[in-house]
Amino acid sequence: MMYDIQKIREDFPILDRQIYGHPLVYLDNGATTQKPKVVVDALVNEYYSVNANVHRGVHFLSQQATELHENSRETVRRFLNARSTSEIIFTRGTTESINLVASCFGEACMNEGDEIIISEMEHHSNIVPWQLLQSRKNIKIRVIPINDCGELCLDRYEQLFNKRTRLVSITHVSNVLGTVNPIRQMIQTAHAHGVPVLVDGAQSAPHFAVDMQELDCDFFAFSGHKTYGPTGIGVLYGKENWLDRLPPYMGGGEMIKNVSFERTTFNELPFKFEAGTPDYVASTGLSRALDYLTDLGMENIYAHEQELTRYATQRMNEINGMRLIGQSPHKDAVISFLVGDIHHLDMGTLLDRLGIAVRTGHHCAEPLMHRMGIEGTVRASFGLYNTKDEIDSLVNGIERIRHMF
Ligand code: ALA
Repeated sequence: MMYDIQKIREDFPILDRQIYGHPLVYLDNGATTQKPKVVVDALVNEYYSVNANVHRGVHFLSQQATELHENSRETVRRFLNARSTSEIIFTRGTTESINLVASCFGEACMNEGDEIIISEMEHHSNIVPWQLLQSRKNIKIRVIPINDCGELCLDRYEQLFNKRTRLVSITHVSNVLGTVNPIRQMIQTAHAHGVPVLVDGAQSAPHFAVDMQELDCDFFAFSGHKTYGPTGIGVLYGKENWLDRLPPYMGGGEMIKNVSFERTTFNELPFKFEAGTPDYVASTGLSRALDYLTDLGMENIYAHEQELTRYATQRMNEINGMRLIGQSPHKDAVISFLVGDIHHLDMGTLLDRLGIAVRTGHHCAEPLMHRMGIEGTVRASFGLYNTKDEIDSLVNGIERIRHMF
């Protein structure tokens, strides 16, 4: 299929907005993506014409809502190429997915003195849940360092394994540096030591095809709202043999089979991990978003965004005083930068006055900021609807601001 960017942009009504009299240039896709009409229409339609609680009712609407919800699970399974829908758990997002693993895996498989390997480029969502576990169980967190260009030191990674290593939890793509980690190779290394791997896919699933059977990861987390779907929904993929071994996360509703005051038995997978009424409307929205991505073709989205990343890198390097944070040749859809001694917050605020939305600050990755010796960056992150013209607007905006200082 031809990647017709103008036609694609028409699917996203928000892109027509003017901000302070300028056309919106939305470059904060790493934080959240805009939604195509098909997604919003699906939410409205479901609330207007189907809405009923799922898995509970004999009545028509409940059955229809259940069918939509479970079909959405199948769409997610297809998107991830998971073996079975039993391996697809709906959560509120990547953060909740990682917390679920930290809580349940930590409970079942980790004891005092056991170790987990994470990295210096992790988002707080893949650091703090392990620290919470550390304070409960006195586990040890070991950290893979990065080099100056923002890549993981793989030789150091190999050295971190020992008899007490129980899990590797690692980001697929850095939300700050854009580095795409060699996750397949890292999973093979971990498996050679008999250690399972959780992949934080929040910044990879929206940008290129992720295949659970090919990656062979044990857990994989991603968010709906960063994948052109609704807020408040995300996914945890887990291999069935691992999910079977783990205790439930939260108690109530959906996750039980039978309850008495003496003994409660739990539901089968994946429902064991889905307490309470699930966001069955958001799951429909998410499945529309994933279908939208599949129809465009993940390989086409990847090619488009790689070209944007290459072009942006080249144009940004033409700016005097430009410092790109994250210089790996394996980057995707993220450009973090600082210009001269202009504070990142000033740059972000002034770009905003030109209608250009970027993110500023530590991007929930404070340890990474410490490693790079900075407080924060300005981050432009691309989505499937961005254009080279928008990158030109960003570059022109930065030049204008640079001359003001
Ligand atoms: N984790 C999101 C980001 O990187 C919010 O912006």
